[in-house]
Amino acid sequence: MTQVSPPDAVRPIAWRDDALVLLDQRVLPQEEKDVVCRTAGEAAAAIRDMVVRGAPAIGITAAWGVVLAVQEHGNAPDWQAKLAADMARLRESRPTAVNLFWALDRMQLRLNQLVTEGADAAQRCASMLAEAQAIHEDDIAINRRMGVLGADYIGKGESVLTHCNAGALATGGYGTALGVIRSAWAADRLAGVYADETRPWLQGARLTAWELLRDGIPTTLIVEGAAASLMAQGQVQWVIVGADRVAANGDVANKIGTYGLAVLARQHGVRFMVVAPTSTVDLDCPEGAAIPIETRAAEEVTRLGDRPVAAPGAGAWNPVFDVTPAALVDVLVTERGVLERPDRDSLLALMESA
Ligand code: MRU
Repeated sequence: MTQVSPPDAVRPIAWRDDALVLLDQRVLPQEEKDVVCRTAGEAAAAIRDMVVRGAPAIGITAAWGVVLAVQEHGNAPDWQAKLAADMARLRESRPTAVNLFWALDRMQLRLNQLVTEGADAAQRCASMLAEAQAIHEDDIAINRRMGVLGADYIGKGESVLTHCNAGALATGGYGTALGVIRSAWAADRLAGVYADETRPWLQGARLTAWELLRDGIPTTLIVEGAAASLMAQGQVQWVIVGADRVAANGDVANKIGTYGLAVLARQHGVRFMVVAPTSTVDLDCPEGAAIPIETRAAEEVTRLGDRPVAAPGAGAWNPVFDVTPAALVDVLVTERGVLERPDRDSLLALMESA
């Protein structure tokens, strides 16, 4: 097992002075500025508008959003109805990352316990804050554990390709796919890290490169279309990605383009690793085809940021996630252990393990 202390400087979410402070990921790396949320509605808008993104980070933000709602509605006569409306807004913010629903369900469960116990408004605030804090801190610890487990698969001198941003910025900290990369880097195993630029939001070019370089991990960008050539030339031995939802049969929803990379990896003998906490596993979703896939505005494709780039009048199809069949996944890393060639039985057994 890897026993070194990997670099880990970036934290995208903070709770300060009774408010939720988010590093605005829409403007990185050109600007490092915060967005402060003081209501659950503002937290929901921040998720919807991509201030904060990445499955675990969305879940953590939603948990803090519930704390904002509990604070705001205090002891108002209709506090329960107002809180339910805020929860519903948070649930509607983005559809694919199951961590959102996992975190909201956990917060709801804690609230129900407090109501049953007859907790007053001050007790509700304190306890719900502690619950969100636990979700947030657990996520970082889980990522460190997955980092160690995943890094053990990386051979000395191997290089990896990652897609989108499954890093500190997409989580409470440390990252899932980038957590494995951080751990492998610290163990002196990695020869190189390649990052897909990841159109249209450029999470790879803007976010993955920024956070890895900040931690002193050299990163080489490629356009998505270069991945096949990179693999054909034998320049990477692994594709390592995160996930927004893992279905009960091991199918994986992740950033659009992930499926294509998995097909290319199998064709070229490159191994394909998915790194995801068990909060990303949805046993209620039988297979990938049942995962709701978010489609966003056409303008995200026809423009580059604010600048129009497409021929006027061109339409665009903008699904932001795709599904990789379990059969193309060589290794699924979770905090409870690693599955090689995951399938329905092995995933169920893992989820039922303590
Ligand atoms: O649209 P985004 O930026 O929220 O998409 C993020 C991804 O696809 C990540 O790979 C996924 O959420 C895993 S993050 C640890």
